[in-house]
Amino acid sequence: MAMILLFFLLAVSAVSADQDAFIGVNLGMDLSDMPNPTQVVALLKAQNIRHLRLYDADRAMLLALANTGIQVIVSVPNDQLLGIGQSNATAANWVARNVIAHVPATNITGIAIGSDVLTTLPNAAPILVSALKFIHSALLASNLDRQIKVSTPHSSSIILDSFPPSQAFFNRSWDPVMVPLLQFLQSTGSYLMLNVYPYYDYMQSNGVIPLDYALFRPLPPTKEAVDANTLLHYTNVFDAVVDAAYFAMLDLNFTNIRVVVTESGWPSKGDASEPDATLDNANTYNSNLIRHVLNNTGTPKHPGVPVSTYIYELYNEDLRPGSVSEKNWGLFNSNGMPVYTLHLTGAGAVLANDTTNQTFCVARDGADRRLLQAALDWACGPGKVDCSPLLQGQSCYQPDNVIAHSTYAFNAYYQKMAKSPGTCDFKGVAIITTTNPSHGTCLFPGSSGSNGTLVNSTSLAPSSNSSDSAGGCLPKHLYGTIPYTSSTIFCVLLMTLVFL
Ligand SMILES: *[C@@H]1O[C@H](CO)[C@@H](O)[C@H](O)[C@H]1NC(C)=O
Ligand SMILES: *[C@@H]1O[C@H](CO)[C@@H](O)[C@H](O)[C@H]1NC(C)=O
Ligand SMILES: *[C@@H]1O[C@H](CO)[C@@H](O)[C@H](O)[C@H]1NC(C)=O
Ligand SMILES: *[C@@H]1O[C@H](CO)[C@@H](O)[C@H](O)[C@H]1NC(C)=O
Ligand SMILES: *[C@@H]1O[C@H](CO)[C@@H](O)[C@H](O)[C@H]1NC(C)=O
Ligand SMILES: *[C@@H]1O[C@H](CO)[C@@H](O)[C@H](O)[C@H]1NC(C)=O
Ligand SMILES: *[C@@H]1O[C@H](CO)[C@@H](O)[C@H](O)[C@H]1NC(C)=O
Ligand SMILES: *[C@@H]1O[C@H](CO)[C@@H](O)[C@H](O)[C@H]1NC(C)=O
Ligand SMILES: *[C@@H]1O[C@H](CO)[C@@H](O)[C@H](O)[C@H]1NC(C)=O
Ligand SMILES: *[C@@H]1O[C@H](CO)[C@@H](O)[C@H](O)[C@H]1NC(C)=O
Repeated sequence: MAMILLFFLLAVSAVSADQDAFIGVNLGMDLSDMPNPTQVVALLKAQNIRHLRLYDADRAMLLALANTGIQVIVSVPNDQLLGIGQSNATAANWVARNVIAHVPATNITGIAIGSDVLTTLPNAAPILVSALKFIHSALLASNLDRQIKVSTPHSSSIILDSFPPSQAFFNRSWDPVMVPLLQFLQSTGSYLMLNVYPYYDYMQSNGVIPLDYALFRPLPPTKEAVDANTLLHYTNVFDAVVDAAYFAMLDLNFTNIRVVVTESGWPSKGDASEPDATLDNANTYNSNLIRHVLNNTGTPKHPGVPVSTYIYELYNEDLRPGSVSEKNWGLFNSNGMPVYTLHLTGAGAVLANDTTNQTFCVARDGADRRLLQAALDWACGPGKVDCSPLLQGQSCYQPDNVIAHSTYAFNAYYQKMAKSPGTCDFKGVAIITTTNPSHGTCLFPGSSGSNGTLVNSTSLAPSSNSSDSAGGCLPKHLYGTIPYTSSTIFCVLLMTLVFL
């Protein structure tokens, strides 16, 4: 009775927070030395990755995943979509071969029908919903429809006017597909699959979207984006895109369909035209994304509602055509070594091997010298950092300039404050990095000594109970305006940023 009631409540309630968010990974296989399925599964297990999305339903992969407890989304590739969408029998056959043959040993929990169909294969759009329905009927016939959800991943580019999120709507050309699709997702208890790429949003914004906003880095409150209609504050692009999807569904009167992010990530390497595809940015994005998701933070519109996310992607794919960045979205190289070491303090057990507490706070490139000096004075004064290593003759005196000295002081403050959010900002002149700035005998707090001993960072200064990143002692007229110009839709963002 209680269970029936609970089920009823969940079925009728708006988007609800009935389970924790998880992090999964996508498995692209365009590698010249693709690890075999056993090796892939070994890596997933070592990293405690419990959720995987395949771009097909590779038999060997599904066999290797049997009895591991790893939950798997299998996919109908775009080139099989037309057949399935046109024939109930073909769909049933696909399910028999690729799903029924593997469950329950392999825990298949979702089927992704095609990928970015509306934007990359518009000719198949008319049969997309039929394909979902046919696959679902086959699951229903085998009584698997409740444990295996059917959906189709969308590019976020089908959402128009996505900032402010409250004005977002799906490209109306696709209403004939989106309306029955959302009806299907709602009636089957499935979810909207959405690919969210703040990297591309940032790249295409011509400088309107600040990099920090794309990377989940703390923004000074004066720079947060505010949706003027809802007064919701947005601190990162990811949340804004997910909320745009909720609002676009609301625009079509659907209020109780959850969003699962089927792809998100950041490339760690690019060519000359992709200067922000760097190891540091990829690490920052993915580390912050994982922390954000696993914290069950939800979004401003639906706080606490989990937004489970699959990172794009497990391996770097050297055979992928296109720009350098296309080949460098992976967390791991084909030999299973991490491309970079994620910094995941407090994120829980996923990607457990990669955890490290080594992040540092440094002066931002090109920061204004006067602002740096003011922040340095604050850190060594009211901020109560022990700046004695910066005195003449001491280990961190050289190089004797405001950038090096403020870097030392910013980092000492950040470590002293246990790296809590907002403590590496200093009115925008400081930035977090994973690169240890120690040099020679100048060991920075928070860095491991050569023998792995963590340099003491808690004894540097008397404890302070200030939670602000810098006191109010900086002259306010020196910051707060951002000279962005652009004619894109992100101008709305600009307005709210500047005129808040
Ligand atoms: C598969 O995953 C679901 C969802 O977490 C879980 O409830 C179920 O017990 C799992 N089944 C197996 C066989 O591991
Ligand atoms: C498709 O096949 C299933 C059985 O696999 C059946 O229950 C369903 O009614 C069929 N649907 C259509 C539209 O023919
Ligand atoms: C909406 O979708 C149609 C059909 O794909 C496309 O031609 C059009 O450019 C899209 N509109 C916008 C603003 O992206
Ligand atoms: C949504 O509901 C409102 C109020 O019931 C109605 O006026 C509107 O036409 C509906 N929109 C759609 C797309 O069904
Ligand atoms: C975690 O969630 C809490 C509220 O549940 C929020 O206050 C906090 O800022 C979140 N932390 C991160 C890192 O998102
Ligand atoms: C993860 O940790 C396990 C055990 O500590 C180790 O055997 C394995 O090589 C590590 N994997 C990576 C990718 O570091
Ligand atoms: C990382 O930091 C957390 C919390 O500050 C601490 O519990 C953990 O032991 C640290 N891990 C390492 C390897 O220093
Ligand atoms: C590691 O280095 C620290 C500081 O340099 C030193 O105090 C400690 O004794 C060293 N530990 C070992 C095991 O060598
Ligand atoms: C580290 O800090 C603790 C607590 O303040 C202090 O007792 C200890 O002596 C310090 N260790 C070093 C090597 O400075
Ligand atoms: C913060 O510091 C002030 C003055 O040093 C003290 O009176 C107050 O109790 C402290 N608050 C906390 C929460 O420690």
